[in-house]
Amino acid sequence: MKIGFIGAGKMASAIIKGVKAKPFTVIISDRDPETSQAAAERLGVKAAQSHQELADEADFIILGVKPQIIETVLAHLKIDKPLMSMAAGVSLDRLSTLTNPNLPLIRIMPNLNAQILKSTTAICGNQHVSEQLMTTAKTITDCFGTTFELPEKDFDTFTALAGSSPAYVYLFIEALAKAGVKYGLNKKQALEIITQTVLASSQNLWLGTDSPNDLIDSISSPGGTTIAGLLDLEKSGFTAALVSGIDATIAKAKEL
Ligand SMILES: NC(=O)c1ccc[n+]([C@@H]2O[C@H](COP(=O)([O-])OP(=O)(O)OC[C@H]3O[C@@H](n4cnc5c(N)ncnc54)[C@H](OP(=O)(O)O)[C@@H]3O)[C@@H](O)[C@H]2O)c1
Repeated sequence: MKIGFIGAGKMASAIIKGVKAKPFTVIISDRDPETSQAAAERLGVKAAQSHQELADEADFIILGVKPQIIETVLAHLKIDKPLMSMAAGVSLDRLSTLTNPNLPLIRIMPNLNAQILKSTTAICGNQHVSEQLMTTAKTITDCFGTTFELPEKDFDTFTALAGSSPAYVYLFIEALAKAGVKYGLNKKQALEIITQTVLASSQNLWLGTDSPNDLIDSISSPGGTTIAGLLDLEKSGFTAALVSGIDATIAKAKEL
């Protein structure tokens, strides 16, 4: 199967690395033939001379351009193959208006962990996507991580919880590392300690059967250090601050 990528920036390039490791052929078309050729050489794939050449040659098309230019890109294109879009905030209805009302359309929301082939990706399709096509689409998204099939109405929430949240996790890591520096550790050492702890804590949760609350309880000895820290974090509104950040992320996603 030949997969064509229109736009080969950060996210598409990460995805292409995963896809080309599987039995798919990849062809790309970026801003113009020169940038397409340069990206194709960098990624070890073939470049098309134009978006239309790509649309004619590929069996499955993936749009990797910014949401703001989707309309311009699709306006000059005749597409009769299944189309997948990764653009934040661009609905299936909008894509249908910009293409053809009978076209099978798939929307995904990957995250930057695609760079290490560990994206948490949401997927949904319009009424023209058969079960078999959805299976093929998930085979593609599974090449760069884990796929969650969700109704489109939940995409904005997913965008906050998986698309943007890596930035909030990095902020959490950075804040803990700063605390380490405050108490005399050097920054590099503090970052290594925290990153390793976050990684192992996630694995412990993922691999085990305990809930986060069970694990919190087992760390919190009566009268101990952890419960003192936890209560102080809540006094400063830790949970409320995080939920408020998610509220703001979802509100912004709805505006796009
Ligand atoms: N980055 C993320 O974490 C993330 C997460 C989820 C979803 N997404 C979605 O992924 C898409 C791409 O985001 P990105 O971060 O990868 O952006 P990006 O790095 O800017 O990639 C966009 C690519 O499209 C190229 N381009 C510009 N005009 C074009 C045209 N007319 N035809 C074809 N290609 C064109 C750009 O070239 P130039 O650089 O020369 O302009 C660039 O190579 C967006 O829709 C975004 O919403 C991104």
